Amino acid sequence: MSQQPIGIFDSGVGGLSILKAIQHHLPNENLLYFADSKYAPYGKLDQKILHERCRFIAQFFVEKNAKALVIACNTATAVMADWLRAEFDLPIIALEPAIKPAAEITKTNNIGVFATENTLHSERYLSLLQKYAKDKKVFESSCAGFVEQVELGELATPKTLSLIENYLNPMLEQNIDVLVLGCTHYPFLEQSIRKIAGEHQLEILDTADAVSLQLTRVLAEHELLNFDGHHQDLFFTSSQLQQAKPVFSKLLNTDITVVEVS
Ligand code: DGL
Repeated sequence: MSQQPIGIFDSGVGGLSILKAIQHHLPNENLLYFADSKYAPYGKLDQKILHERCRFIAQFFVEKNAKALVIACNTATAVMADWLRAEFDLPIIALEPAIKPAAEITKTNNIGVFATENTLHSERYLSLLQKYAKDKKVFESSCAGFVEQVELGELATPKTLSLIENYLNPMLEQNIDVLVLGCTHYPFLEQSIRKIAGEHQLEILDTADAVSLQLTRVLAEHELLNFDGHHQDLFFTSSQLQQAKPVFSKLLNTDITVVEVS
């Protein structure tokens, strides 16, 4: 049972930022990654369709004999995590924007949050703010266009840099000293964000390590950790291969095989 794979999914290639951290923390695990790029961005997707997609992908992993599932998407977590947990009988690890650590480390008491519209409007996110950041000023942006740029593999093109400038500069003017990346696509833009932030002292937080540690704990609790050194990671996409393969390979810094699933 411990050699069964772990299913990881996102609206697209963003969750590869989580997959990379999992590969680092749990190098023996067999990973399956599903990029639902045909339906990206989830941030603006009708919730009924989001529901259908999450069910389809979870079922896909169950058929592949997954021992656990990681929702590598803040948006799907915010909207669907409770439902998936009620519906599917396997450990499900979800993520949430790093509001708690941001509130702990800010010195200016001004925090920036980049996340999708669906996440920013979700009850889960609002209750995080209520719980941990009531006494902080939180500046939010849904960063229209970011997900699309990452889906194209355009991490530092003039268009991407100009989008970052548009969303980041008003926050820097408000003296934020911590920026929460509340969408798994955005860590791929971190270098460009740092470039635009320039001299500003800015901590940039995401949750890839926290999720990997949580996954490790859950697998250990269920006695599902894989100690066999031979592992294989497989990659799936709902979009077209010609589009997906170069972007997967770019984001993972290695040439990989991707399988199209319709
Ligand atoms: N990467 C996802 C997230 O963490 C979804 C982005 C989107 O498709 O809107 O929210």
